[in-house]
Amino acid sequence: MKTKILQMLRQGNHYISGQELCESLGVSRTAVWKAIKQLKEAGYEIDSVQNRGYRLVSTPDVLSQSEIESRLNTKWMGHPVYYFNEIDSTNIEAKRIAESMEGIEISGAVVVADMQTSGRGRRGRNWNSPRGSGIFFTVLLKPDITPANAPMLTLVKALATAKGIAETTGLTPYIKWPNDIVINGKKVVGILTEMSVQVDYINYIVVGTGINVHQMEFPEEIAKTATSLDLELKQTYKDFSISRAQLLGNILEKFEYYYEIYLETQDVSTFMEEYNALLVNCNRKVRVLDPLGEFEGTALGINSKGELLVERKDGIVKVSSGEVSVRGIYGYI
Ligand code: BTN
Repeated sequence: MKTKILQMLRQGNHYISGQELCESLGVSRTAVWKAIKQLKEAGYEIDSVQNRGYRLVSTPDVLSQSEIESRLNTKWMGHPVYYFNEIDSTNIEAKRIAESMEGIEISGAVVVADMQTSGRGRRGRNWNSPRGSGIFFTVLLKPDITPANAPMLTLVKALATAKGIAETTGLTPYIKWPNDIVINGKKVVGILTEMSVQVDYINYIVVGTGINVHQMEFPEEIAKTATSLDLELKQTYKDFSISRAQLLGNILEKFEYYYEIYLETQDVSTFMEEYNALLVNCNRKVRVLDPLGEFEGTALGINSKGELLVERKDGIVKVSSGEVSVRGIYGYI
C-alpha cells in the first residue's frame, strides 16, 4: 500500500485527498493515515492539510521495498524485488532464491540490499558495501541462450548502468571492458556475473552490480582507483542529491530494454556502436590478463559477440570476457 501511496503522491505536485487515496486503494481512511504516518517516520516529508489532503514535499534517500517499487517503470524486471536491510551478498541470496524456487518462474527477480556483510568482487576479492552508501543489487535471469553467449550479459548490464547513471545524474560515465564503470578515470561500478550451467543449458544467471553512491572515502587498498557518484557530483553540481531508488529504477528499465534486444539477436550487434562510444579502453594500450598468458596491445572496441578486439604486431586478437580482465599499461585504465 505504501508503494501505491508514494506513486500517487508523486503523480502530480499537488494535494491528494484522503478520500481519493482510500477509494483508489480500496482501504479505510485509518489505514491510509497509518501508512502516511509510517512514511513520515521513515523520513518522507508529507504535508497534510485539512480538507485538501496530502502532498509529498521531499523524499529521503532510503532504499526500501516500497521506495524501490514506487520508482519501477519496468514490464517484468524487478517483479518481484527482494529487499534486505542487510545481507551477506545479494549474489549469494539470488542463488539461494534460484535454488529454492525450482520450476517457478523467477527470471527478472531483483535482490537489493542497503548493506552487504560479504560483498563479493571478481577474482575472489571483496566488495566494500557499507550501509546507506551504495546500491548493491543482483538480477536473477533464466535466459534461453547457449552458455557460450552468457558472458555478453555483463556488457549488456554495463551499458544499461552507464546509461542509467548518465541520465539520472548528468555525469559522463565510461565502460572499462568488460565489467567496470569509471568516471574521471576512477571505478564507480563493478559487475559480477555468475551462472549455474549444465553442459549446454543455463539453469540461471545472477548479474550483481555494486554502485558507489555516497562514499566520501574508501579503504586504503582501493582509495587511489575508486570514486563515488557523490564525489564526482560535488565537483560539478554542488546541490544535486541522488535518490538511489530512482537510479536503480532507471538502470533496471534500461537493462530490461537492452536485455530483450540481446535475447532476440543472441549478441550485442544492435547496440555495439553505443557501447563502443562509451568504451574507455578504445584506442588505448592495454594489458590483457588472460589466465592462459598475459599480453599487450591496443584496444580497438568490441565486436558483435562482445569480444574486445586487441591489435598486436602479429594481428588482431579477439578477447572473450569470461575470465579475462584488462588493465591500462600505465595504470588502472
Ligand atoms: C568487481 O569486482 O568489480 C565486481 C563487484 C560486484 C559487486 C556486486 S555488489 C552486488 C553484488 N553482490 C555481490 O556480492 N557482489 C555484487
